[in-house]
Amino acid sequence: MTRAQLDKRPGDVAAMFDTVAERYDLLNDVLSFGQDRWWRSVVGRLVAAVPGDMVLDIAAGTGTSSRTFTKSGARCVACDFSLGMLQVGARRQKGHAGDNGHVSFVAGDAMVLPFADGSFDAVTISFGLRNVTDAPSALAEMLRVTRPGGKLVICEFSHLPARQVDAIYQRYLAAALPAIARRISNNSQAYAYLAESIRDWPAQEELAGQIRAAGWTGVRWRNLTFGVVALHVGVRPR
Ligand SMILES: C[S@@+](CC[C@H](N)C(=O)[O-])C[C@H]1O[C@@H](n2cnc3c(N)ncnc32)[C@H](O)[C@@H]1O
Repeated sequence: MTRAQLDKRPGDVAAMFDTVAERYDLLNDVLSFGQDRWWRSVVGRLVAAVPGDMVLDIAAGTGTSSRTFTKSGARCVACDFSLGMLQVGARRQKGHAGDNGHVSFVAGDAMVLPFADGSFDAVTISFGLRNVTDAPSALAEMLRVTRPGGKLVICEFSHLPARQVDAIYQRYLAAALPAIARRISNNSQAYAYLAESIRDWPAQEELAGQIRAAGWTGVRWRNLTFGVVALHVGVRPR
C-alpha cells in the first residue's frame, strides 16, 4: 500500500501498525542502526520528568519511549489507537519491573484525546505526528491536555539541511526501507509508506510554524543525526 492509497485514514493507519506490532521495535533498531536508542534518550533529557510528574506519550506504540520517562520516578500514560501496538507494549512492561515509575497503556486518538484539560506536566510524541491524519488538530489537543507552563516535545523524522543531500537521502529511504523490512517484517508495504511519509513531512521551520499556530510558545528545534530526526519543543502559555 502506498501512502497515496493509504491517505492516512485513521482506521487504516491503526490496522497497519497492528500488523507490524510484534517486530516494530526490532525493525526500528535495524533500520536506524541503533540510533533510535540515542534519539529516545535525548527526548528523555528534554522532557526531564521528575518524580511526581505526569507525562503523556502520544502515539506511544509499544511504549519504548514511554519507559524512558518513568526512569526518574515520573508516571507516564502511553496513548495509541493501535490495540496491537498497545498489547505488545503492555506485555513487555512485565519485563521492565525494575523501572521506578509506571507506564499505563491507554487506547485513544491523538485528535480527540480522552483526557481532561491541563492533566499533564509534559506531552510528547515520537515518530507519531507524521502518521496522524490531522496534525494541527493533534497539536491543539496536546495543548489542551497540558497544564499551563507544561512542556511539549516532538521527535520526528525530518530533512537534511542541504536540499541535494536530502534528495539523495530520500531516494535511499525509498529503496532501502522496504528492502530491509521485507526480510524482517511481515509487512514491507508499511515501510514503503514510511519512506513516503518522511519525504512528504514538513521541514523543521515549517513544522515549528504549525506548532506555534496551535498556540504553543517558546518553540525551537534541534537536529539529531544531521537532521534525519528533529526534536521540536514548546511550552503551554501560563
Ligand atoms: C511509528 S509509530 C511510533 C511509536 C512510538 N512512539 C515510537 O517511538 O516507537 C507511530 C504510532 O502512531 C500511532 N498513531 C498514528 N495516528 C494516531 C492517532 N491519530 N492517534 C493515536 N495514535 C496514532 C500508530 O498507531 C503507531 O503506533
